[in-house]
Amino acid sequence: KRYFALLPAAGVGARMAANGPKQYLTVGGKPMLRHAVDAFRASPLVAHTYVVVSPDDGVIDAVLPADLDGVTVLRCGGATRMDSVLNGLRALDGQLTDDDMVMVHDAARPGLTAALIERLIEGVGDDPAGGLLALPVVDTMKRSAPGADGVSVSAATVPRNGLWSAQTPQMFSYALLLRALGSAPDANAITDDASAVEMLGYAPRLIEGHPRNLKVTLPADIRIAEMYLANKED
Ligand code: CTP
Ligand code: MG
Repeated sequence: KRYFALLPAAGVGARMAANGPKQYLTVGGKPMLRHAVDAFRASPLVAHTYVVVSPDDGVIDAVLPADLDGVTVLRCGGATRMDSVLNGLRALDGQLTDDDMVMVHDAARPGLTAALIERLIEGVGDDPAGGLLALPVVDTMKRSAPGADGVSVSAATVPRNGLWSAQTPQMFSYALLLRALGSAPDANAITDDASAVEMLGYAPRLIEGHPRNLKVTLPADIRIAEMYLANKED
């Protein structure tokens, strides 16, 4: 089997509200995106890494020099994460075969390691449904309802047992992922790739990830990511 990485990196980082897209912020001495790319470059199991950026991206050439081996930039990012992934997959038509495995990974998860990539590949094995890194939920989960004066109130407690937080990479065969995302009803409702695959009736494997693989979303997350990056043992 051949394993490829596809990194959507065409978001604007609205919640980070930084001076530019968050994937280019420096975290632990390197741009966030570069950490994620380097994790895939460090794994001998990964054949090639593709990075999807916005067509008008003016920063990527400085972050990923053209001569960096094992990496190709695709300038076909779309309006939603799902569009960016789907456009990237379509751009690889003819280069990937149906059975090639594609690991989709958020550019905003700098804590990924080659060991976690290999854990995913080993954990999924030959399962045709693919799989994803995820973590069992540790907090007690509440279902909110609208309360008085615009506050949210806790209407119920959702049993935590059986709930997992999805991480990336999420890995599927090229053919399955293309079919799933191509037939998903609403790009805005699809916040990860596994959800589109589930809609086709597949049950992807949950492989235990790691807290260091957090998605950097809010400004405070940068400090947490840096703490993990400083400690390779975590
Ligand atoms: N992404 C993308 N194309 C989009 C939107 C998101 O490639 N149109 C990518 C982001 O660059 C990121 C990943 O999808 O690597 C996860 O998305 P998210 O954390 O939501 O990033 P942003 O959309 O940039 O952030 P926000 O939602 O706060 O604007
Ligand atoms: Mg987003």
